[in-house]
Amino acid sequence: VFQDRSSPVEVQMSQLRVGLAGLGVFGQLHASILHHLPHARLAAICDVVPDKVESTGRRFGVSKVYVDYDAMLEEVPLDAVFVVTDEASHAEMVQKAAGHGRHVFVEKPLSTSYARGREVVAAVDAAGVQLQVGYILRFEPRHALLKQQIAEGAFGRLATIRCKRNCSANWFRLFGHRVHPVHEAITHDVDLCLWYTGSRCREVYAVQRSLLGFEHPDVCVALLRFEDDTVAFVETSWLAPEGAPDMVGYGWDISGVIDAKLEIVGEDRTATLDFCTPALTIWGNERTQHPELTTWPVMHGQTVGALRDEIAHFVDAVLEGKPSRVASVADALEGLRIAEAIVASAEEGRPVALAANQ
Ligand SMILES: NC(=O)c1ccc[n+]([C@@H]2O[C@H](COP(=O)([O-])OP(=O)(O)OC[C@H]3O[C@@H](n4cnc5c(N)ncnc54)[C@H](O)[C@@H]3O)[C@@H](O)[C@H]2O)c1
Repeated sequence: VFQDRSSPVEVQMSQLRVGLAGLGVFGQLHASILHHLPHARLAAICDVVPDKVESTGRRFGVSKVYVDYDAMLEEVPLDAVFVVTDEASHAEMVQKAAGHGRHVFVEKPLSTSYARGREVVAAVDAAGVQLQVGYILRFEPRHALLKQQIAEGAFGRLATIRCKRNCSANWFRLFGHRVHPVHEAITHDVDLCLWYTGSRCREVYAVQRSLLGFEHPDVCVALLRFEDDTVAFVETSWLAPEGAPDMVGYGWDISGVIDAKLEIVGEDRTATLDFCTPALTIWGNERTQHPELTTWPVMHGQTVGALRDEIAHFVDAVLEGKPSRVASVADALEGLRIAEAIVASAEEGRPVALAANQ
C-alpha cells in the first residue's frame, strides 16, 4: 500500500527550550547531544569565558550566547537549564534556575555540602520544577541490568559491593584536584550503592592519602555499612600513569583512563563488571587506545551512549510532566550526606555513624 505523499506529512513534536551553562570538556558533550536530540532545542548557552561561548555558539548555531548566567535566566524564555559548570558552583546555579521556574539538569554533584544540597532541594520543591542530577551510570546498560536483577530478587540478599574508580594522574593535575575525590569519583559509586541496596548508610570508615601534593587528597578508600547490612567498599586513586591505556581517545581529546571495577556478591548471584576491559584495541605509534564505548562514544558524528540516554530521559520526563523513575534526588542528597561522613572519617581517623531518618 502506497501512501499519498503529495502533501507533506505534518509531524507534531514538542521541543524543550534548553539553556546550557558551562561549556568546558563535558559541557561540549552536552551541547552536542542537545543539538541533535529531536525533543530539545539548544536555545541559549553560557560560560564565563567569552571565547568558549563564541566558538560553541558558532559550532551549534546558537545565537543567544551569554557570559553572565543571571542575564541568560532573565532574558531567554527557557523551559530547562543544564548546569555543567565546575562542582563548587552547582548549588547556587541550580537554585537560581529553580527560582526562575526552570527545570534543571545538573551534573554531579548537586552540591559540595549536604546542608547546601538540602537548601537547593527545598528551593526546587518550592518552585515545583523537576531536578535531575547527572548520575550517568544509572543509564549505562550493564549497570542498569544489574539493578533490574537485584530488584527482581535474583541476587537474594546483598552481602557486599566493591567499587574501584581509579583515574589518570594527569586528570588530577588538570581538573581532579579542584574538589575532594569523594565528589568527583566516589560519588558515582555511592550512588550505585544507594540504588542497588535501596537502603541508607548507617556507618562509614574512610582513609585518604595525598601523593601528588594538592589541597585535596588523590587517594580515598571507604568502608560503608548499610541499614540492610550490605557492606560496601569504595575506592579511588588518581595515580594512573601516562602509559595506561587511553580509554577516551574516541571523541575526546584528553588522554587518560578510568580503571573502574564493580563486584556485587549476593546470596544467589555474584556479578563482576570491568569497565576497563578492552572490547576494542587500537594500536598507535605512541599509545594503545581502548575506547570506552558505552558512556559517550561518538558514532556517525553524534555523541551517543549513556550520556545521551540520560539527557533524553530528562527531556522526556519534563515534556511528559512526570518525575523520573530512574534518577533520584533523594539519593543524590543522601549521597552528599555519605560524602561528608567519608571526609569527616578520613580527616578524623575514626568511624562516623550516620543518624537514621534524616
Ligand atoms: N557524569 C560524568 O561522568 C562526568 C564526567 C565529566 C565531568 N562531569 C561533571 O561535569 C561538570 C563539568 O566538568 P568539566 O570537566 O566539563 O569541567 P570544565 O572545567 O572543563 O568546564 C567547566 C566550565 O564551566 C565554566 N563556568 C564556571 N563557572 C561558571 C559560571 N558561573 N557560569 C558559566 N560558566 C561557568 C568554566 O568556564 C568552564 O568552561 C563537573 O561537575 C564534572 O564533575 C561529569
